[in-house]
Amino acid sequence: SLLGNLRPKYLNEYIGQQEFKQVLKIAIQAACAREEALDHLLLYGPPGLGKTTIALIVGQELGVHCHIVTAPALERPRDIIGILLSLKPNEILFIDEIHRLNHITEEFLYTAMEDFRIDLTIGKGKVTRTHSISISPFTLIGATTKVGSLSSPLFDRFGFVQRLDLYNLNDLCRIVERTATLLALKLEQNAILEVAQRSRGTPRIANRLLRRIRDIISIDRNLNFVSMELVNEALSLLQVDSQGLDSSDRRLLQFLLEVYNGGPVGLDTLAAGLGEDPLTIESVIEPFLLQVGFLKRTHRGRVVTKDGCKHLGWY
Ligand code: ADE
Repeated sequence: SLLGNLRPKYLNEYIGQQEFKQVLKIAIQAACAREEALDHLLLYGPPGLGKTTIALIVGQELGVHCHIVTAPALERPRDIIGILLSLKPNEILFIDEIHRLNHITEEFLYTAMEDFRIDLTIGKGKVTRTHSISISPFTLIGATTKVGSLSSPLFDRFGFVQRLDLYNLNDLCRIVERTATLLALKLEQNAILEVAQRSRGTPRIANRLLRRIRDIISIDRNLNFVSMELVNEALSLLQVDSQGLDSSDRRLLQFLLEVYNGGPVGLDTLAAGLGEDPLTIESVIEPFLLQVGFLKRTHRGRVVTKDGCKHLGWY
């Protein structure tokens, strides 16, 4: 897909997450020097910030293959066993949505991660024995939006645990510039800023908006430069508002305002009212609303801020 081509391949092309990049660079160099597998790495944070991209970059930098799977695809024991047996020394196994692993699969991972070993139970009933198989040393990179729902035995087996934060405006502008160049789009400076501002701190959203802008341009115009007006036109078609809020963000704020007069409301009450899973609200919807300062978490629950009220036109 086009998104594949947009992904940065090497660490030095990857914009933002500065502190994490430094830690990762040193760890990669050390693993290379020792010719060992990199320690297992857990990435968590809101979706669209580049967890898969980082796994691919780590593979590229180490010069090894990165196998990509999502946890729900690892249904039967033979799914995970097959993958673990196929790994070559120091390769990477990337498991997306790692909080969704089933128990049996997870238990195979414990010994695989810790001792590079798979324990198979042979036989049924009272006459069983265990047969251990060695596998190649490898690096597990797990990604999740819901780090709180990882079991502690799994969590504890990661040598690195890294939270990815929403990108600041400056880094997002650089990403928008980079992607626009790759898409052969020329954006005016204020158009770059406008896209960055409406991307809710998320490169995946910035890239998606840019591709929609390109669609509009390639259909009915012959423009050399994309102006801010054209960006605004494209984004209103996509129902992305001036601050980058989408319909689920607005729905959450609207619900707090209409039903609870702005809060405070506990997470579970909020989740029930919206018909959403509390963890999804906490890990997917809220981070951006907290960052833009439209929502606050207090000890008594969620509260819409004055700015949040204003944004929704409540004063
Ligand atoms: N495209 C998406 N995310 C990116 C990032 N962090 N750096 C560079 N390009 C990107």
